[in-house]
Amino acid sequence: MFPSQRPRRLRSTAAMRAMVSETTLRPDQLVLPMFVKEGAGEPVGIASMPGVVQHTRDSLRKAAVDAVHAGVGGLMLFGVPTTRDAVGSGGTDPDGILNVALRDLKAELGDATVLMADLCLDEFTDHGHCGVLDADGRVDNDATLRLYADMALAQAEAGAHLVGPSGMMDGQVGVIRSALDKAGHLDTGILAYTVKYASAFFGPFREAVESQLKGDRKTYQQDPGNVREALRELRLDLDEGADLVMVKPGLPYLDVLRAVADASDVPVAVYQVSGEYAMVEAAAANGWLDRRRTIMETLTSLRRAGADVVLTYWAVEAAGWLRERD
Ligand code: PBG
Repeated sequence: MFPSQRPRRLRSTAAMRAMVSETTLRPDQLVLPMFVKEGAGEPVGIASMPGVVQHTRDSLRKAAVDAVHAGVGGLMLFGVPTTRDAVGSGGTDPDGILNVALRDLKAELGDATVLMADLCLDEFTDHGHCGVLDADGRVDNDATLRLYADMALAQAEAGAHLVGPSGMMDGQVGVIRSALDKAGHLDTGILAYTVKYASAFFGPFREAVESQLKGDRKTYQQDPGNVREALRELRLDLDEGADLVMVKPGLPYLDVLRAVADASDVPVAVYQVSGEYAMVEAAAANGWLDRRRTIMETLTSLRRAGADVVLTYWAVEAAGWLRERD
């Protein structure tokens, strides 16, 4: 008679499996990160991220509309400026590419999607760090906070529904919240990059934004071996008023995502970053992995580990596959 317990019964048909499936994924839980390049006449491909481009203002507008039609839940914008300086002026300037592109998308889409912007200086600085440097060349936390406040105001005025501080400066969420509140931007929310590791998986992104960084970000991004520290960052961001919190990267940090999801009382996002994208694309291009199945498995895993929202470069394609299934 053995075995009397047969878990395989619940796997026996597609209908049975669908009925007992624990983890769901909807298109509107997916957010598409997008790059827009100042002065570009044509979209420019990113070699290490096949299928992803640096958009022109015009191609960005069209791709954003297509993404919203495909059902994705939101868009996260990154700007690639033509000139950079020591203080990242392009980020705080209302006429900087990121703010101009936000205004374009706000005019085009209004409230039909959730418009988000990366709030960080690294794309705009000539040294590539996420903040300004002091006389000794170290990233100056508090001087950087003042610029983040200005950047938040510029992004809110340009139409961002959520600003996404990603620089890992201490106090960034609190400073941004109070700047937004003082200026009357009470409805502009903060998607905090709460837990962000000093990760090799950001490699392709550095190509995407033409990063000028030499060295690393280990004095502000977290040590990949630490999880207690992630919970401390979570507590601080919640106290400072984060509306959503994010863990980044995704797949190598599923345990951290689970810990944060269990401890958070606001929605949790995860960023499936450029290196995660590049790994799967490279393996699939070689015929080593089934591309679609692998992508959907990674997205399901991120949801299972506790993410409410997933930022992924596959958002539009995955949204299409999810609709096919319905
Ligand atoms: C910082 C920022 C980075 C990413 C998102 N925001 C790069 C970094 O911290 O070095 C990485 C995203 C990705 O790798 O897809 N502005």
